[in-house]
Amino acid sequence: MEYAIRTEKLSRFFGKQKAVDQIDLTIHNGQVYGFLGRNGAGKTTTIRMLLGLLHKSEGKIYFHGQELEKNKKNILAKVGAMIEFPGFYSNLTAKENLKIYHSLLGIQKKHAIEEVMDIVSLNFEDKKLVSKFSLGMKQRLGFARALLHDPEILILDEPTNGLDPAGIKEIRILIKKLAEVHDKTLFVSSHLLSEVEQIAHKIGIIHEGKLLEEISLAEINKRTRRCIFCLVDNPEKTAFVLEQKLAISDYEIYPEGEVHIYQNLDQIAMINRTLVTAGVEVSSIKLSKDNLEDYFLKLTDTNKDNLTNDEIMAYSKPMLLI
Ligand SMILES: Nc1ncnc2c1ncn2[C@@H]1O[C@H](COP(=O)(O)OP(=O)(O)OP(=O)(O)O)[C@@H](O)[C@H]1O
Ligand SMILES: [Mg+2]
Repeated sequence: MEYAIRTEKLSRFFGKQKAVDQIDLTIHNGQVYGFLGRNGAGKTTTIRMLLGLLHKSEGKIYFHGQELEKNKKNILAKVGAMIEFPGFYSNLTAKENLKIYHSLLGIQKKHAIEEVMDIVSLNFEDKKLVSKFSLGMKQRLGFARALLHDPEILILDEPTNGLDPAGIKEIRILIKKLAEVHDKTLFVSSHLLSEVEQIAHKIGIIHEGKLLEEISLAEINKRTRRCIFCLVDNPEKTAFVLEQKLAISDYEIYPEGEVHIYQNLDQIAMINRTLVTAGVEVSSIKLSKDNLEDYFLKLTDTNKDNLTNDEIMAYSKPMLLI
């Protein structure tokens, strides 16, 4: 699959501070990419570089295989963006605001405004002034503006920041629609895993300027799946007992005697007893926590001591490399 956006060792320094430090992003065509990081992680700095609004210190940026630097104008003509809170003329309506951008951008298409307002569910005939808009409506107007020139790629910096749960849901539905119905590629930053995991095909985690990892949705689902987590001395024997004595087939074996069982979650004591009776030594058996958000928050906490051994063990291996 072709990459819509790819970076190579992209970096930005502010004085001695490495705000973005050698990150290699890979965003596939037609996918929603969640760019996840805490406050100050380097999300906006990265996005500003992708949009050519900020000079990079090092590295390369490619859109559809073309280097941004070499063909900035043509490349960015196919990119729409919304960075933090979009500003509008508050004494005008949504339509009037969009008309200004329509002519500023020199858009030829006649019904572009009507079309984008329809996509973001704003009423074309509404006479309401932007000053009377809710934050959610303003955000949707921001989307409309970003979509006016019918870009292939949309880059959105924390589009749900400050919204209430209903507003967040609207934006989530809109992002999915843009990807699924309108075939856009979306790069969306957020500091909430719970939010991006519902929309993204892939998540990139940035922390203190470094890209900790990129994870696919399949991997995320695997990690957020509840399981009975056990540590045993003999995984082969455990597999045998699970299958033959307990008719459990949905389980996974990891290195160092770690076994994840995905069924019969309410039968920990019985599973434990059966394993022990069969001669398997079980040094730990418990239900895993299902909140990956907690894990992410702690993982990206500067004070990593917050992470207990149990939590480290209960989740995936790749994250432990950090
Ligand atoms: N123009 C600048 N001059 C100096 N330092 C900057 C500048 N812009 C950003 N930084 C620093 O770079 C780091 C990354 O900032 P950035 O705004 O990219 O983070 P972020 O992930 O977008 O955070 P937030 O979630 O708060 O929006 C921060 O420490 C910030 O203070
Ligand atoms: Mg930011």
